Amino acid sequence: MVILAIETSCDETAIAIIEARKEKSGTDFKILSNQIASQIKIHAPFGGVVPNLAKREHIKNLPILLYRALKEAKLIPISKQESKNSNQNQKLSTKNYKLIDAIAVTYGPGLEPALWTGINFARELAKKWRVPLAPVNHLEGHIYSAFMRGAQFSIPPPSPRLRRASNFQMFPLLTLIVSGGHTEMVLSKKHLNYKILGETLDDAAGEAFDKVARMLELGYPGGPLVSKLALKGNPNAINFPRPMIHSKDLNFSFSGLKTSVLYYIRELPQTKFWAMKTDIAASFEKAVVDVLVKKTLDAVKIYKPRTVAIGGGVGANNLLRSELVKKTGALLPEKKFTGDNAAMIAVAGYYRFLAKKFNKNPKAEGNLKLSKT
Ligand code: KG4
Ligand code: ZN
Repeated sequence: MVILAIETSCDETAIAIIEARKEKSGTDFKILSNQIASQIKIHAPFGGVVPNLAKREHIKNLPILLYRALKEAKLIPISKQESKNSNQNQKLSTKNYKLIDAIAVTYGPGLEPALWTGINFARELAKKWRVPLAPVNHLEGHIYSAFMRGAQFSIPPPSPRLRRASNFQMFPLLTLIVSGGHTEMVLSKKHLNYKILGETLDDAAGEAFDKVARMLELGYPGGPLVSKLALKGNPNAINFPRPMIHSKDLNFSFSGLKTSVLYYIRELPQTKFWAMKTDIAASFEKAVVDVLVKKTLDAVKIYKPRTVAIGGGVGANNLLRSELVKKTGALLPEKKFTGDNAAMIAVAGYYRFLAKKFNKNPKAEGNLKLSKT
């Protein structure tokens, strides 16, 4: 079956088309197109995402990306006439989309004005093409992203009998989701089953990276910039706190760490700020990674998962990736799938489609929880 997915929860407009084929050894996925339009340059001058600007850009980008995705997936004929035709919207009403079996769309969590653009667009398409619409939680997309490899990959079957056919056992699956808006430890016993074992009590890990980047005058989004600077610094130079590292639960807190960095910078003589930037970045990054890895190890000890995975934008962080692999054998998403994309929404949408979890009129839910999904 072929699924078209739409993702507009934050500052990336994304549309993907994937093909899923059920085999004995699992489901084989093929990404036919994975289109992303990033709005980073538009939001960068504001130091963060501006919801109404994001909404305006999504509305502008969606028809363009849809056209590109259908064309790349070879679901519309590519004629000279078509490429000359500038009104892509007109062509969307033609009958060439019979090959699409379902549409998946992110309905939360995220910025509601942004989410609504994707939902409205998806609803119209589902109606026009007469296909079911499967609403997907953005975070379940990040969970499935750990299994995505290149343009073709397989996900093993969940049932024990079939599982033996493949040597890879997926469940119980423990996923550390670390993004700009979320830091959650999630346990799944089967597809579409999510138990939140722990979460951040204040800032998300990515948010802390973004705020520290601002303090270091690096720009937005901060994660990749802090981590690049950290390569040149000494991670043991400053002993920043590791909040909640020894707490008995699996919750996180990054706001105190962020404030410590702020106080450290404030107390530094201006002349030393530039020289210390690399050490501050490296010591901060090490503090975040130490907490994330320790909590993952704690969760592994308690829940004994068969698979440990990581998902979300901070999953692109090299120190976190290498430490998690070394200590837990975690499954890492390819870097191109750590950030927001629609291919991961399509994969999660496939499992929603199998479970017949459709809704013609989903509503945007900015604070949607995985446990409610
Ligand atoms: O998952 P994502 O693309 O969007 C959300 O759903 O939030 O995550 C974006 C977050 C940003 O906070 C960004 O600074 C962070 O991921 N990030 C990183 C790295 N690359 C992106 N944080 C640390 N190290 C990185 N290499
Ligand atoms: Zn995300």
